[in-house]
Amino acid sequence: MPDRPRVWVSQPLFADIVGRLDEYFDVVSTTTVSQHAPEAVAAALREADGALVTLNDAVGAAQIAGASRLRAVANVGVGYNNLDLAALSAAGILASNTPDVLTETTADFGFALMMATARRITEAERWLRDGHWRQWSFESLLGSDIHGATLGILGMGRIGRGIARRAGGFGMRVLYHNRSRLPDEVEREHGARYVGFEALFEQADHLILVLPYAPENYHLVDARALARLRPHATLTNIARGGLIDEDALADALAGGRLAAAGLDVFEGEPAVNPRLLALPNVVLTPHIASGSLATRRAMVALAVANLIAALDRGPDAGRPPSPLNADAVARARKPGA
Ligand code: DGY
Repeated sequence: MPDRPRVWVSQPLFADIVGRLDEYFDVVSTTTVSQHAPEAVAAALREADGALVTLNDAVGAAQIAGASRLRAVANVGVGYNNLDLAALSAAGILASNTPDVLTETTADFGFALMMATARRITEAERWLRDGHWRQWSFESLLGSDIHGATLGILGMGRIGRGIARRAGGFGMRVLYHNRSRLPDEVEREHGARYVGFEALFEQADHLILVLPYAPENYHLVDARALARLRPHATLTNIARGGLIDEDALADALAGGRLAAAGLDVFEGEPAVNPRLLALPNVVLTPHIASGSLATRRAMVALAVANLIAALDRGPDAGRPPSPLNADAVARARKPGA
């Protein structure tokens, strides 16, 4: 009997769901949460036909160079900036991600983080826990309103639209900027108006970043962009840390040129810029926007389904539900291509 395909699972990911792989594959699991060194990822992939990875695991040309058996990489996450899609496509390796299943949960969290930032919730809690609350005071810890304010959404994909829908319930005026403008009916449905990048920064009371990260977006929100925000504005980021120049952000926050920031993602995560840690007007969370139990389980289930199908097993053999580079892989795999 021929060898069963081998699969590497890079992190602990709900054993009962990952266990579905056992029916088809020999599975090498990782039992503790790991920040694998690039060489360790390469070594694991060298022995694998498929892999289930997360944003902790960068898979680029160097990691797949010796991976002659590798045919599929399933990312447990909608963002896939940890994957070098061009390198994977050229090598005929099918990549997939987990869209849709996390949209509403992530939009919930983005809204919550924006509200916590505007209303200074974590700062107030720290103040209370530190024993500063001696008497109720009319003028302490005043925040800014969400209802009736102008929301700026940078990136109007699925999650951006989810946030726009929530904003409607709060009577917000919704502006957005996107690579391409949405059709009129989608704008109408979400009560959202397209504006230019600069206008978005200039007009938003609360700006939220929900766009995918790509190298050309590195430090898109730099000192110049931040200078366009009004001093009472807040900035929330649930996309990727590399979008913001964190030192420029710390300057703006410390200098009173921006009221507050809510950050779920960081450029060097899990390390956080110490200047941000020291500022009271920043709400910091450890990349948990998609982190409800049900959604994290749904993400793993989708990634597992992607991997099984991409390795030509199971009821959807050859047809993974959410591939990223199916056409490019088909071309690369075609004999003589
Ligand atoms: C994603 O899905 O891209 C999140 O950032 C990780 O859960």
